[in-house]
Amino acid sequence: MDPIIVEDLSFSYTAEQLVLQDINFRVKQGEWVAIAGHNGSGKSTLAKCLNGLLMPKSGEVITCGRNTKDKETIMDLRRRAGMVFQQPDNQLVAPTVADDVAFGLENAGIPFKEMQERVKESIHRMKLDGLEDREPHRLSGGQKQRVALAGITALRPEVIILDEATSMLDPVGRQEVQEMMRTLCREEGITIVSITHDVEEASEADRMLVMHEGRLLADDTPREIFRQQEVLVQAKLTLPLPVKLSRMLREEGIRLPQDIMSEQELVDALCEWK
Ligand SMILES: Nc1ncnc2c1ncn2[C@@H]1O[C@H](COP(=O)(O)OP(=O)(O)O)[C@@H](O)[C@H]1O
Ligand SMILES: [Mg+2]
Repeated sequence: MDPIIVEDLSFSYTAEQLVLQDINFRVKQGEWVAIAGHNGSGKSTLAKCLNGLLMPKSGEVITCGRNTKDKETIMDLRRRAGMVFQQPDNQLVAPTVADDVAFGLENAGIPFKEMQERVKESIHRMKLDGLEDREPHRLSGGQKQRVALAGITALRPEVIILDEATSMLDPVGRQEVQEMMRTLCREEGITIVSITHDVEEASEADRMLVMHEGRLLADDTPREIFRQQEVLVQAKLTLPLPVKLSRMLREEGIRLPQDIMSEQELVDALCEWK
């Protein structure tokens, strides 16, 4: 069964206005799906519907085989589908990094010895070795988000949902978190849903969902979405620099392959051209 199934989802905070309307999509096991869209398009609301922090007004959300409306399985669902938010400081709760990573395990009632092992393993996986006794609040933004991710991965989730988890970070922090998403998805098979303003980040995903005024405007590969000028304009998305640059060079008559997606592809194509 697909780990995320969204069927005819609508949601509203107030009686007047639907914030999400008729949303349908599925995410496959091990897939990396990016959700993009301008401010207020409904991305965070959708993210909160995915792990049952918000309930559909109509339609269904089934995450990791559990309907978000089912109160009996909601805690289990949230353990299976962890969430990282934009503000790193709001998610860190304990006086040290190790305690923070252990927090969710303690709540889940994991025995002490196993807890210690899992904390160590998660800290190592998120490249936080040596920072176990540090105060989370004194870390860099990228490190804080990695602590949040370590706390989630310690619970062995099937899905991780990141809601603009990189948007408050400097370029180094962004790269650190992006690298962790890559490892978790590509090496460990964890399903990733990453909400982002950063089209470069989205371009690495298998699929991109574009939100506009509470509706799903597009659902396709990043390569395909970047070809759809109307979608880009409507969703106010700018193309990643290598994509834009290669198109400009093509317009100037430099014969580069179509659909260059990354810096590396552009460099390779330019070297070949020479
Ligand atoms: N708690 C709330 N109460 C009422 N309206 C809200 C609330 N949170 C968000 N909204 C409204 O819902 C719409 C979608 O917001 P949001 O999901 O946060 O969009 P995004 O994450 O894409 O910026 C916006 O119009 C926003 O003002
Ligand atoms: Mg948001």
